[in-house]
Amino acid sequence: MSWVGSVWANIGSGSMINFIINSKCDGTVFTHKIFNFKMLTLLFISLFIIVALSALLFKFAISDGDYTLLSKRHVKREEIEDKVVWITGASRGIGEILAKQLASLGAKLILSARNGTELERVRKQLTGKYAPEQVKILPLDLSSEEDRLKEAIDKAESFFPGVGVDYMFHNAAYERPKTTALDVTEESLKATFNVNVFGTISLTRLLTPFMLRRGRGHFVVMSSAAGKTPAPGQAVYSASKYALNGYFHTLRSELCQKGIKVTVVCPGPVATPNGSGATSSTTNVSSEKRVSAERCAELTIIAASHGLKEVWISYQPVLAVMYLVQYMPTIGYWLMDKVGRRRVEAAAEKGNTYSLSLLFGKKKAA
Ligand SMILES: *[C@@H]1O[C@H](CO)[C@@H](O)[C@H](O)[C@H]1NC(C)=O
Ligand SMILES: *[C@@H]1O[C@H](CO)[C@@H](O)[C@H](O)[C@H]1NC(C)=O
Ligand SMILES: *[C@@H]1O[C@H](CO)[C@@H](O)[C@H](O)[C@H]1NC(C)=O
Repeated sequence: MSWVGSVWANIGSGSMINFIINSKCDGTVFTHKIFNFKMLTLLFISLFIIVALSALLFKFAISDGDYTLLSKRHVKREEIEDKVVWITGASRGIGEILAKQLASLGAKLILSARNGTELERVRKQLTGKYAPEQVKILPLDLSSEEDRLKEAIDKAESFFPGVGVDYMFHNAAYERPKTTALDVTEESLKATFNVNVFGTISLTRLLTPFMLRRGRGHFVVMSSAAGKTPAPGQAVYSASKYALNGYFHTLRSELCQKGIKVTVVCPGPVATPNGSGATSSTTNVSSEKRVSAERCAELTIIAASHGLKEVWISYQPVLAVMYLVQYMPTIGYWLMDKVGRRRVEAAAEKGNTYSLSLLFGKKKAA
């Protein structure tokens, strides 16, 4: 950038004046040539910058993840193959698809969710180096007491002789239909935090000592775009995801030098089969552009295999809102304040809650 600046400065001050002066008093051809050369260079540089910026903008308009994530094109298979991967919430939605993709990459899987029957159904569908025969089923309710969680961890650690859990995919989450922040029931508040926050953190706190003993371990946390920006109609869900982001980024800052890695994944609207997963399942999805659950799982595994610290997965406009809130919060929060009330209304009518039209007061996207 600096030499572009210096060309500008030269043109602006020296050359232009030289050119004028020299041409007036019978200037040398040499000065003319320098001038033309500089002008041409400038023209090309400007053109290049314009084209590059347009390409970047175009890429941004159609991208389904943040720049860092999309720059890592492929999964590092060697980071996944033969590793023990424990997934919670593996009985459906993104968890089920993560299990499929990880199995085919040659991971040794441990599947958890509340319902063992459902897990068995998922297990039978898996194929890979260790699947389905060596896939372990570990039914678990994240809202249970510490003793139950401890038991589960002991089992998970002993499933594969000689190797403990390498990756913990915290995918289980609780999400209720959208309501205003004031209409959230006590029951819904507690249920959401018990699973999304308390259960997840307890499991992490109990599992980490095993990882520290081995000097390595990696938490992959399915957070949400609602953990990065206000999410009108989902105040409690958003609060639970902000809590996770805070906990896990802090955990990494404390333990990264002892081999603990953390990847926080923030998906926006994701199309999950039969509605369940990281984002809303109750809205009318017909007019919303959602990242497919397969793509979301793929990007999540790419992010984990490259050890990225935080990644965002979403189409526009949610991705742009995330960038705004992160880098220009004054504008980002102003935008969300404009959208907030209408989004709650749209949710009540089961309309599109991710549409730009919310900003302009139209009821529904065309
Ligand atoms: C578990 O899932 C199966 C199959 O979907 C269902 O029949 C069963 O009632 C579920 N069990 C519990 C405890 O929810
Ligand atoms: C989704 O629902 C369809 C039919 O309602 C069913 O055939 C399919 O198995 C379901 N998929 C999942 C992943 O539950
Ligand atoms: C979704 O929206 C369309 C058109 O706005 C409507 O016809 C349909 O009934 C809605 N579906 C649900 C499940 O609300």
